[in-house]
Amino acid sequence: MRDRRLVLASGLIKEFDSFRAVDRVSFEIMRGECFGFLGPNGAGKTTLMRMIYCFFPPTRGVLEVFGMDVRKYSSQIKGRIGVMPQEDNLDIDLSVMENLTVYARYFGMKGKATLWKARELLNFVGLGDKERLNVQRLSGGMKRRLVLARSLINDPELIILDEPTTGLDPHSRKQVWDMIKEKQREGKTLILTTHYMEEAQYLCDRVAIMDSGRFVRIGSPRELMEEHGGSLEDVYLKLTGKRLISETGYALEERGNGSPIGNL
Ligand SMILES: Nc1ncnc2c1ncn2[C@@H]1O[C@H](COP(=O)(O)OP(=O)(O)OP(=O)(O)O)[C@@H](O)[C@H]1O
Ligand SMILES: [Mg+2]
Repeated sequence: MRDRRLVLASGLIKEFDSFRAVDRVSFEIMRGECFGFLGPNGAGKTTLMRMIYCFFPPTRGVLEVFGMDVRKYSSQIKGRIGVMPQEDNLDIDLSVMENLTVYARYFGMKGKATLWKARELLNFVGLGDKERLNVQRLSGGMKRRLVLARSLINDPELIILDEPTTGLDPHSRKQVWDMIKEKQREGKTLILTTHYMEEAQYLCDRVAIMDSGRFVRIGSPRELMEEHGGSLEDVYLKLTGKRLISETGYALEERGNGSPIGNL
């Protein structure tokens, strides 16, 4: 039987010089799960994702993806992951279609089958009629959807989406939600970040609420709402941003909710 656990992190740390961006986090993500990292700007969400998709290695601690150590097996892991980074890093000299086919070559994909796959994905994200356009002529929301299509080109088992709907209008956001739900139905595992709590509530089976590089809570949106009362946004506001409050001169409250879950 295949291991149900797709990602395992234990005591995971990432430091940039002496600054600790991710501070001793521990968690597991199961196959087929949609897992969200939530937290204020600078909390460490992107840094955590970047370690998972082998963009850079952890400073210390355990991190395994598909049962493989990210330090030793990064190329094998990368081949099975799709990534939608926070910033659109499309090639502005290329057309919509070329952005997909050139990217596909990183996975050793080429020829007719790749072209068909790219076309299918462009239709999936509603850009079927734009394949010949230079990407500079796409709107911000269209670029975001193209990056989503690109993240799926290698038919990944694990899809990592860093703020997939930031900057999208309500219709486009709804479309992206539908696409993510479709991938969930196909049994894919998803990790996403978002600053929209209703999005996290709608899409995520479990979320980790982060602040200053640490996990404050892990649980299903429903569990967290039952535990703390109110909406997921209320829970989020209660558990995060204490440092911001102190910086603005208001009284600094203690985190009054027991010991953090998820930190060693
Ligand atoms: N390459 C880097 N070198 C130095 N510091 C970095 C680097 N990448 C991130 N940081 C720092 O690490 C911290 C966490 O950054 P990160 O991008 O992970 O935050 P985030 O939770 O994704 O925030 P946002 O919601 O704004 O995207 C920040 O203080 C950031 O300045
Ligand atoms: Mg980020």
